[in-house]
Amino acid sequence: MAPKSRKKKAHVSRSLTCYCEGSCPNNVSNGTCETKSSCFSSVQEVYDETTNSYEEERTYGCMPPEDNGGFLMCKVAASQVHGKHIVCCDNEDLCNRNLQPAFTPKLTTPSPDLPVSSESMQTFMLLGSVVMCAFVLTVVLLIVCLIYKRREKQRKPRLINSMCNSQLSPLSQLVEQSSGSGSGLPLLVQRTIAKQIQMVRLVGKGRYGEVWLAKWRDERVAVKTFFTTEEASWFRETEIYQTVLMRHENILGFIAADIKGNGSWTQMLLITDYHEVGSLHDYLSTSVITPQKLQLLAYSFSSGLAHLHDEIFGTPGKPAIAHRDIKSKNILVKRNGQCAIADFGLAVKYMSELDEIHIAQNTRVGTRRYMAPEVLSQALNPQQFEEFKRADMYSVGLVLWEMARRCYTPITGTKTTTCEDYALPYHDVVPSDPSFEDMHAVVCIKGFRPPLPARWQEDDVLATVAKIMQECWHHNPTVRLTALRVKKTLGRLDMDALNDMPMKIV
Ligand SMILES: Nc1ncnc2c1ncn2[C@@H]1O[C@H](COP(=O)(O)OP(=O)(O)OP(=O)(O)O)[C@@H](O)[C@H]1O
Ligand SMILES: [Mg+2]
Repeated sequence: MAPKSRKKKAHVSRSLTCYCEGSCPNNVSNGTCETKSSCFSSVQEVYDETTNSYEEERTYGCMPPEDNGGFLMCKVAASQVHGKHIVCCDNEDLCNRNLQPAFTPKLTTPSPDLPVSSESMQTFMLLGSVVMCAFVLTVVLLIVCLIYKRREKQRKPRLINSMCNSQLSPLSQLVEQSSGSGSGLPLLVQRTIAKQIQMVRLVGKGRYGEVWLAKWRDERVAVKTFFTTEEASWFRETEIYQTVLMRHENILGFIAADIKGNGSWTQMLLITDYHEVGSLHDYLSTSVITPQKLQLLAYSFSSGLAHLHDEIFGTPGKPAIAHRDIKSKNILVKRNGQCAIADFGLAVKYMSELDEIHIAQNTRVGTRRYMAPEVLSQALNPQQFEEFKRADMYSVGLVLWEMARRCYTPITGTKTTTCEDYALPYHDVVPSDPSFEDMHAVVCIKGFRPPLPARWQEDDVLATVAKIMQECWHHNPTVRLTALRVKKTLGRLDMDALNDMPMKIV
């Protein structure tokens, strides 16, 4: 090592003459220069616009003194500068004149407009891909955001939105939107509706409460207020209405239920659709009907009951439900001429999987006039759910009889029509508020059933309805028709009336 450093010091002390070209002192084009370091010869590629290609350019000259970089610079430049090659020497004067360093030529010819080096090209491409990635990422993020927002919008309690919205959606729409399972509005919404109700006028009184026409916002609703003693009825009815898949066009549309109290009194409300025509009893008392209207009333009534009686298997499923208080006062008539079954305070639910019958906790019994013989004689086995359905079918027979009496037919040989006056079943054989004993004596002991006028045989619909009612009120419950059978038989009749639905009642 020692001799080498001595040799280096010797170089520094002497002056060296180098050939110069393109790097001469005083800006002369070529000649010589003096240095205490080394001479160099370099070659590099320079872009020539006229030939549209890279040309080699050679430079000769003196390296700056050793303490300013000198020989070291030769090495760094040679190894690091792409496209430029420097070779140095210091062994003799003008030693660089014949030095011909080689260079690595460019592989591509740049576009004439873009005389950019490969480095800037690389930088440019790198930048380009970064921008591209950022753009793609932004687009993807935007799409994800949009999808998320749309989902959120759909998931948001639309019903709450509609309630707060000044552009009100009709109540029916609100119920439709929220009760995907067909079991009614969420409790909080029900409470809110109940608070916003304005009573308009009393429309009817029953044994268990009053029915009011009321308004929620601009829509008419029916509000049933229960007497304080009838909490169990309210509870049962509310529970039945909120049974999954209960909603059906022939079952009164449930909107909300609410209960409030201060210890000494309890107010219980049930809010449902309002039907201005009123109950089937009200309607038949004041109107007569064509055979087509009879068919529609009877068909829609049996459809509602078939839905109620039917157990739906699956998830969600619906339990079978027996009504236990079928009568013309508990059936409402809609403007389109169809029936809607109401009043579920006594209903019984049954799930075959659990084999459990949920009997209402209340003490209320059905309406004696409409009670099946096995109910009157207390022969009904409450452990057998089918028996409740069969008892309902007995009452269906009586309701069909009430309907048929008001269906007018032509009197042969004349241009006039006729029908019977409205009457309650057994009106002629029992008092207005019959006791169990009265009904038992007539229905079970004497085996009476409502009379069937001869004229009913002259019309297809009336004759069919007459046959159905007899098969419904049979003394033997096991041979009675099912609601589904009644519906199918009425549906098979000349379809005119059913096809014409909806039919306006005037
Ligand atoms: N949703 C409704 N829309 C219009 N009117 C109704 C509605 N619900 C009931 N009504 C009317 O209110 C009356 C009273 O009904 P409510 O169910 O309280 O007693 P009811 O059925 O007449 O007798 P019961 O107490 O024996 O059931 C009905 O007869 C009917 O005229
Ligand atoms: Mg009622």
